[in-house]
Amino acid sequence: MIQHERFHYNSIDELADTIDNMKLNIPLSNNISVLAKPLKINRKKVPNSMAVHPMEGCDGTSEGKPGELTYRRYKRFAAGGAGILWFEATAVIHEGRANPRQLLISESNAKNLHNLLKSALFEFGVRYGSKHKPYTVLQLTHSGRYSRPERQQRPLIASGNPYLDKKYSNNIIRHIVTDKKLEELEENYVSAAIIAQQIGFDAVDIKSCHGYLISELLSSAARTGQYGGNFENRTRFLVNIFDKIRTRTSNTIDLALRLNAYDAVPYPYGWGVNRRDYRNFDLKEPKKLVKLLHKKGLKLLNISAGNPYYNPHIGRPYDTGPYIPEEHPLCGVERLLNLCREIQQSVPTVPVVATGFSWLREFGAQCAAGAVENGWCKLAGFGRQAFAYPDFADDILKKGGMDRNKCCIACGKCSEIMRFDGRTGCVIRDSSAYLPIYKEVSKGKPSFIGKYIANHV
Ligand SMILES: Cc1cc2nc3c(=O)[nH]c(=O)nc-3n(C[C@H](O)[C@H](O)[C@H](O)COP(=O)(O)O)c2cc1C
Repeated sequence: MIQHERFHYNSIDELADTIDNMKLNIPLSNNISVLAKPLKINRKKVPNSMAVHPMEGCDGTSEGKPGELTYRRYKRFAAGGAGILWFEATAVIHEGRANPRQLLISESNAKNLHNLLKSALFEFGVRYGSKHKPYTVLQLTHSGRYSRPERQQRPLIASGNPYLDKKYSNNIIRHIVTDKKLEELEENYVSAAIIAQQIGFDAVDIKSCHGYLISELLSSAARTGQYGGNFENRTRFLVNIFDKIRTRTSNTIDLALRLNAYDAVPYPYGWGVNRRDYRNFDLKEPKKLVKLLHKKGLKLLNISAGNPYYNPHIGRPYDTGPYIPEEHPLCGVERLLNLCREIQQSVPTVPVVATGFSWLREFGAQCAAGAVENGWCKLAGFGRQAFAYPDFADDILKKGGMDRNKCCIACGKCSEIMRFDGRTGCVIRDSSAYLPIYKEVSKGKPSFIGKYIANHV
């Protein structure tokens, strides 16, 4: 096991040497221009090969409409010039919101979400001209076991999970979602997709990652009934939603998917895991799923991993977080990118957006170029980097690289604010907006000091 270290590389050669010494498989390339390459998704042109990942700001109103900071964030993201703007987790129903400020898609919020999209596209047009337009995706979610629409937990659990259930003092059984409720929820996703199409998004993402409802259903081997047990049952909810959206929107909105390829939770409670050793992935089922969904109209994939409430280092390698993991962040970057590579190779005609570049600071550009150049993915997605450095894509396109002084430092403060129920963004690089919020919400609370907690991978 290679011990955790904070980022300390001063040149791409130094980083490349470390990758070699650690015998890791992480692609790097100085051919940054591959990231400028446009591509097509279902006949729509994507102006370059970079994406802003879905990043929740927890800054909507109590009704789930975008707030002032939501508009500010998306204007900044759009002005940054990335080819895909993947709008954040937006609940399909009030009780499925992860926090009281999460966006909610509904008839009554449609106009507000339309204004949010319009203001982002306007900002892009001002900078890059009306000939180009980013491809826009709205992520639809039900937060499942992590639902907290009015601050108190209101879990809807797909199946009991000894690794995740510890948080709930009450009898877990009473929170298990019934098959009947799942059938109803399928309709909520379809209605949400119809509204998203009317608003003008290019695609909807049926969020299936990070332990939220659909992600948990995928790993519900221990659940009985028509939504648990075998592969067909565990994927039924997602597949039904795909089928219904395609039929009811007559294919007028593209179908996208942010998928956990690997949960890093022991079998039978984790998806994409090696059944004998959950520390390794086994992508047989995730590959089978994406191939199936491809036949059902899947146009765009975004690959992620882990659970931010349980093993956050898996999905977002960091310098400081709630604990210091027993692995080097570069091992996390390697895992994320290799998950993308395997999935991309299994569905070569579906563009995959890769995850895992933000920890690499400015060298994220070379790594993104390496991943795209070598066919590991078609697009490189940036999450925390977009909070810190919303114009990362513009700098990559116009200056051929990123500026260390504008980069995310993987300090975890954006996640920490979220945990404390604040409106979130980058405390370090966007301090005028977020440092006061951070100070206010973290008052008297223990912060992410990077304490070692040994109950994870
Ligand atoms: C504050 C915060 C909010 C996030 N919100 C979402 C979200 O709404 N939907 C989602 O799929 N992932 C979300 N993520 C995960 C990111 O999209 C991304 O996968 C993760 O940060 C790793 O990418 P990075 O290394 O580029 O940051 C969030 C992450 C953070 C830190």
